[in-house]
Amino acid sequence: MSAQGNGITLKGAPLDPSIALKPCDYESVGAHAEKISKLASSISPEDDKTRLELAETARKLVRALETPRETMIKHCWAQTATMAALTVGVDMGLFNIMAEDGGKSKKSADLAKAVGADPTLVARLLRHLGAMGYVEETDVDEYKPTNFTKSLTIPIIYAGYPVLSGGLLSANNLFHEYLRQNGYKTPTDLSDGALQYAYKTKNNMFEHLQANQPYGDLFNLHMGGYHQGRASWMDAGFFPVQERLIDGADKSSSSPFLVDIGGSIGHDIQEFLHKYPSAPGRLVLQDLQPVLDKITTLDSRIEVMTHNFLQEQPIKGSRAYYMHSVLHDWPDVEALKILARVKEAMKPGYSKVLINENVIPPRNATWEATGLDILMMTLLASRERTEQDWRHLLGEAGLKITKIWTVANGVESLIECELA
Ligand SMILES: C[S@@+](CC[C@H](N)C(=O)[O-])C[C@H]1O[C@@H](n2cnc3c(N)ncnc32)[C@H](O)[C@@H]1O
Repeated sequence: MSAQGNGITLKGAPLDPSIALKPCDYESVGAHAEKISKLASSISPEDDKTRLELAETARKLVRALETPRETMIKHCWAQTATMAALTVGVDMGLFNIMAEDGGKSKKSADLAKAVGADPTLVARLLRHLGAMGYVEETDVDEYKPTNFTKSLTIPIIYAGYPVLSGGLLSANNLFHEYLRQNGYKTPTDLSDGALQYAYKTKNNMFEHLQANQPYGDLFNLHMGGYHQGRASWMDAGFFPVQERLIDGADKSSSSPFLVDIGGSIGHDIQEFLHKYPSAPGRLVLQDLQPVLDKITTLDSRIEVMTHNFLQEQPIKGSRAYYMHSVLHDWPDVEALKILARVKEAMKPGYSKVLINENVIPPRNATWEATGLDILMMTLLASRERTEQDWRHLLGEAGLKITKIWTVANGVESLIECELA
């Protein structure tokens, strides 16, 4: 085996190594800087569109200015070390102590004492986080948290670090080995993919996390964090809940209205009830028992039901069956089994399936969506789907897409379906 696994070497003369020592795209620097200055002069705190465009342009500027060598060192050393340092910081409760007293500057030795860790260890972790800009270095061995590190005291924000570092990322790190051994084919078997290769297990990702607590519990919190700050399908201007769901629904209190299938610890259905307190009928949250066991607070109007979505759907004839970030976890074969269980329970001409997922556009997909797509591939042999993928899958399932509701690129759409 050569340095590159499949033995491919560059055809023709090798590139002059000095290419790696010059800025990646010096010519575009001026244009990016000009755009940044223009956007910055018009931004206001409520203007999310300009904020996101400005941040993207700033990233383009950094990429243009960096040399290939610097970008390589950033990826291989700095970012992997950042993930490690943040995970250790979360694990030892470092950011909670840093955020105390409103986040005043503290000596790393005092922080180390408060968390019961070696002072040299804490000083080195903070030095790297300071160099990366995630804590502020206020004096020699003295730091204060930024808003980002203060936010690492919030469970739904910090949970992703330990669960990804400890429970999942070995699948990404060994993905190349797994693929090489499998002839670089797109993985399709959720019980024999990169995650199983890396962790030497036959469990699927959910079983693997549940069997390796606290990662299963942390994953549920992480799912709650993923959704924060993004437009929600039930918000005004996205999907007209009143016209498409409430009008025309059976108003009797015993009639099922919304079933959240694979709804985790209930963050979405709770949000729905909060935004539509007068929605009629029953609201039902379904997931596997170990997940439901972790619910801490939930409105008493929401019924909690253990349900394996590969088995018969016990709630028949609901106005809506809702699935958020569920089908992307499953390759088409399993996704069709899940949809078949929903279809059997639907009432013709009345029930709808609401699928809240990314619909990857043909061009210019966002990095959040493409990053998730790669994770779906390494962790579950699954995918984020394009519109064509969704039409194919749902057509196979015997469902008709009534409309795909989308508010912005990078925000999950709501795919509204009925029986074909
Ligand atoms: C990616 S999470 C999405 C959770 C939630 N809908 C959200 O968007 O935050 C997928 C959910 O599917 C649940 N799940 C996995 N396998 C399941 C099964 N066989 N039956 C029911 N739920 C399952 C997991 O426990 C998890 O809560």
